[in-house]
Amino acid sequence: MKNDLSTALQDTFLDFPLLTTALRQCAARPEDTQVYASPAAFEAFIRGGGNVPLYECVSVELASHYAPDVHSLLDIGCGDGHALFPALAAAAHPHALERLTLVEPASALMASAVARAQAEQPTLPLQALNEGLGAFAAKLGPDARWDLAQATFALQAIPEPERWAGLARLRAHVKRLVIVEFDIPDLQRGTDAYVASLAQRYERALGEYEGATRELVAQGFLIPMFLGQLDAQTAATNWEHPAPVWREKLEAPGWRVTRLAHISDYFWAPAFMLVAEA
Ligand SMILES: C[S@@+](CC[C@H](N)C(=O)[O-])C[C@H]1O[C@@H](n2cnc3c(N)ncnc32)[C@H](O)[C@@H]1O
Repeated sequence: MKNDLSTALQDTFLDFPLLTTALRQCAARPEDTQVYASPAAFEAFIRGGGNVPLYECVSVELASHYAPDVHSLLDIGCGDGHALFPALAAAAHPHALERLTLVEPASALMASAVARAQAEQPTLPLQALNEGLGAFAAKLGPDARWDLAQATFALQAIPEPERWAGLARLRAHVKRLVIVEFDIPDLQRGTDAYVASLAQRYERALGEYEGATRELVAQGFLIPMFLGQLDAQTAATNWEHPAPVWREKLEAPGWRVTRLAHISDYFWAPAFMLVAEA
């Protein structure tokens, strides 16, 4: 039995050397040090590895939708504007836009986004709403209108009832919706296939960083995320789906999906863009 286990561990080490090393380092921590996600590790993660080409691609794709007839833009769950502001900077018709609305419930992220808007888009009228999609959509008046609404990696963070009801309500107020999410594999949590897929994906992510940065990103972000994915209790903060599920759920209340395409490869899953007309 013991030999079986050590053979299995050796096999795992061969298949996932970076993940195994990071898990060993994590297990070797003194007992009273918790595995926790640190802001410095998240910063290093998001500003490096595959996140760089991912966000470059997302911003270019978003910018392609800022057409001359798009005068009003709504960003749902804009975060600190990491996708939005490079997209605005890359827009071919920067003067077409007459107003920007940001919806973001996390106050610190909203403050960063507002500061960035003031620095990079000082002449663009800005409405900053420090609330979630549900609260925002529930009080939309009949005259509230936007030419374009976008949401990048934000809808996955919104509990499903709030998300689908909010998007259904938004249809009367927005001409076009552009979302970017990950086309995750259709695997049942807790199965061997799910765990093997997670291990492969985190192995790839760790390989995108080097040296001290890899250790920081591993111990402060990727390993806590990996362990969280295995723990049913901490898993309930993120609700993702394979791309066809997003299409079905949006078509049900009447959105007309006109494009659904992978736009960028990424360790977690390929990112896709979905474009829907009201
Ligand atoms: C992964 S971040 C993406 C941020 C940004 N759009 C980007 O591409 O960098 C997810 C964002 O969704 C926001 N969020 C969480 N719950 C939300 C809700 N109920 N309504 C709108 N946004 C929400 C989070 O605060 C966070 O800024």
